Amino acid sequence: MNKELRKVIIAGNWKMNKTRAEAKVLIEELKPVSANADCEVVIAVPFTNLETAVNLTAGTNIKVGAQNCHFEKSGAFTGEVSADMLAELGVEYVIIGHSERRQYFGETDETVNKRTKAALEAGLKVIICVGEMLEEREKGITEEIVGIQTKIALLGITAEQIKNVIIAYEPVWAIGTGKTATAEQANEVCSYIRGVVEKLYSKEVADALTIQYGGSMNAANAAELLAQPDVDGGLIGGASLKANDFGVILAEASK
Ligand code: PGA
Repeated sequence: MNKELRKVIIAGNWKMNKTRAEAKVLIEELKPVSANADCEVVIAVPFTNLETAVNLTAGTNIKVGAQNCHFEKSGAFTGEVSADMLAELGVEYVIIGHSERRQYFGETDETVNKRTKAALEAGLKVIICVGEMLEEREKGITEEIVGIQTKIALLGITAEQIKNVIIAYEPVWAIGTGKTATAEQANEVCSYIRGVVEKLYSKEVADALTIQYGGSMNAANAAELLAQPDVDGGLIGGASLKANDFGVILAEASK
């Protein structure tokens, strides 16, 4: 982390977990463990829990995010939700291009770019996910893969707009596997992404950009990951569903 230069953000990605009744319980548990956090706290909940989460977190330091949005404003897109619909609810963040969307739902670098633009236009803050698959790491092309994902995601995004962009580096092989990247591996790629952004924009923009690590970040390994200079927070799946574990990660990010 480098708190002098940029904001540290810890975001829970609940994925397809928690009914509304269950979400209410978890949010109530999260309030006390989040209250003293010296970092931005976000929970990205299923669409069906957004309104509940916005209402229950009102007046707290917990911000609410969605896990996807469509790139069109409205129209014949059965099953989709627009960025304006999210913003209207009081949602502040949206995750775009998570590897599970890329893997199971046909998300491409181009649609990530379109969704990012739509979300920014609606006034949302966007967490763009990038990351290599295991075979790509083994072939030594991690930087090429993550570089191209970053460049395409940011096509047409202005230096002003990128203030509302966060990049989450999530090696696909580390997601939900319990196999975390080492702190050095995480920092190496986060630093590489910062370099890509510096070339596209400027050093000032790159220095101010929050770049999270995601992939089996948990209460036990968060301290080491967050101690890295280019790791500015975490996108946390499994451990974000346990209030105590999430609280420990927030405490580490608050140091
Ligand atoms: P995980 O998920 O922490 O369960 O590995 C992270 C993510 O997919 O954002």
